[in-house]
Amino acid sequence: MTTPGPESWLRPFLPRFREAGPRVLDAGCGPGVDAAFLAAEGFDVTACDRHCPPSAPWTGPVAYVFADLCALPFRPASFDAVVASLSLHYLPWSATLAAFRDSGELVRPGGCFLFRVNASDDVHHGAGQGEQLEPGFFRVPTAMVSHSQTKRFFTEADVRAVIPTGFRLEHLAHRAIRRYQQPKQVWECLVTRD
Ligand SMILES: C[S@@+](CC[C@H](N)C(=O)[O-])C[C@H]1O[C@@H](n2cnc3c(N)ncnc32)[C@H](O)[C@@H]1O
Repeated sequence: MTTPGPESWLRPFLPRFREAGPRVLDAGCGPGVDAAFLAAEGFDVTACDRHCPPSAPWTGPVAYVFADLCALPFRPASFDAVVASLSLHYLPWSATLAAFRDSGELVRPGGCFLFRVNASDDVHHGAGQGEQLEPGFFRVPTAMVSHSQTKRFFTEADVRAVIPTGFRLEHLAHRAIRRYQQPKQVWECLVTRD
């Protein structure tokens, strides 16, 4: 678990999260930076991943659940918000659609689903490189493997296509961030369940 820094990509979304309610799922939490940030902001956070996070203490009441994003072990509508940061872009298209649908089902009506995914111009992290298995889906060169050998790089149309039925788009933006000492291009998207 990583101690949260003072700033987070999540900060602009805190008012929306507070409006939704306290129960937040961090789906594909990795080392737990977002989970720790949200817990420090007073949210009741559940974090899940298929890999155990480091053993350093969580800063706040975070429940960690070992889980696969393709078989999430939570009841429908059991969270006020779901966050999936850079975790739902490793799958073939049919599994991608299913994972977004299943993640969305965990959000209560009126709650929100915030996600970030690789953008199609994310060239420093494998976009357009290696064997293309499906449009936008690559077996990336070994030097660009992080978490998975396969990575999906989303166009704006792809992002719009994965928004689950019954959700309304509130925010969609292309962002340049940094990961592994390299620039990284992502889509950031917030949707609300009707
Ligand atoms: C690039 S890291 C992002 C971690 C964190 N959300 C962040 O933004 O720093 C991707 C994470 O998604 C997790 N992940 C990818 N596919 C997964 C799956 N099918 N089930 C569970 N976790 C998965 C990986 O284990 C990894 O921790």
